[in-house]
Amino acid sequence: MMDPLSKTSAPRVKTGIAEFDAMLRGGFMKGDAVMLAGSAGTGKTTLALQYLINGIRTAGEGGIYLTFEQHPDQIYRDAENFGWDLRKMEAEDKLRIVFTSPDLLVGEGDPESLLEEPIRAVNARRIVVDSLSHLSMFGKNDDIRQETYRIVNFFKLRGMSALLIWESPQMLGQSYSISDVGLSFLVDAIVSLKFVEIDSSIRRAMVVLKMRGSDHDKSLREYEVTPTGIKVRAPFKDYQGLMSGSPTRSSSERFVDLMRKAAKEK
Ligand SMILES: Nc1ncnc2c1ncn2[C@@H]1O[C@H](COP(=O)(O)OP(=O)(O)O)[C@@H](O)[C@H]1O
Ligand SMILES: [Mg+2]
Repeated sequence: MMDPLSKTSAPRVKTGIAEFDAMLRGGFMKGDAVMLAGSAGTGKTTLALQYLINGIRTAGEGGIYLTFEQHPDQIYRDAENFGWDLRKMEAEDKLRIVFTSPDLLVGEGDPESLLEEPIRAVNARRIVVDSLSHLSMFGKNDDIRQETYRIVNFFKLRGMSALLIWESPQMLGQSYSISDVGLSFLVDAIVSLKFVEIDSSIRRAMVVLKMRGSDHDKSLREYEVTPTGIKVRAPFKDYQGLMSGSPTRSSSERFVDLMRKAAKEK
C-alpha cells in the first residue's frame, strides 16, 4: 500500500523518527546516498543509529555502522543509554559495527574487501559511514570526490541505502563545508543539523537541504536528543534572531535559502 505521506509510490526507507519521515514525505528514497551534516554534538551518531535500528526492527533490513572515529565500546555504551542493545543485534546477525582505519577503504584499500563479509553476514540494506569528513582528511579535494564516488557507487551497486555523516566545524561561514569540498552533487539528499541560539539558549535545528526526486519539508525544524532518541518538533519559522549575528525577522528562512544555494549542484 502507498504511504499516505508520499507523493509517489517510490519505495521509502523510513528512519523511524516519525516527524522526520514526514519531512521526507515518507522517508529517504530507497538506495539513495544521504549526507547527514552537522557539528559535533548535534546528534548525527544518534540519528544514524536510530536509522539502522529502525531498519532492523520494522523493515527487517540488516545494517552496517562503519566508523573511523569512535571506538565500538563507546558506541555500544552510548547506544545503551538510549535503550538500544547493539550487541544483541550483532549476535542475531542483523547489525555489524565495523571499526576500521580509513586506509582500508580509500587509496590502496577498497570497500569490497572491507565490507563484503559483513554485508553478506547481515544481508545489509542500510549502511552508515561515520564519518565521510574523517575520510576526507586523507586526501585532496579531487581525490576526495573520486573516493566518495567510488564508495557511493559501491553502495548503490549493492542496493544499499547509505547515510554518510559529515562533521562540520562549529562556526557558520566556515571552510571545509560539504559544498567547499564539492561533494554535494555526489549525494542524493542532504540533511543539515545545527545548533541555533535563541534568547541566549542553544537549541537544535534540522533542515532538509536537498532531496533528489522528491518533495520535502523546506522549513527549519527544531529537534531534541531525548533519552529515547531524536524527536522532531515544530518549525522555527516564527523565531527572531535565529542565527547569532543575523537577528532579522526572517533570518531562519534566509539561512535555509543560503544553505540550499550552497548545496546546489555546481
Ligand atoms: N542518553 C541521552 N539522552 C539524552 N541526550 C543525549 C543522550 N546521549 C547523548 N545525548 C545528547 O546527544 C549529544 C551527542 O549526540 P551524538 O549523536 O553523539 O552527536 P554527534 O554524533 O553529532 O557528535 C550529546 O551532546 C547530548 O546532548
Ligand atoms: Mg558522532
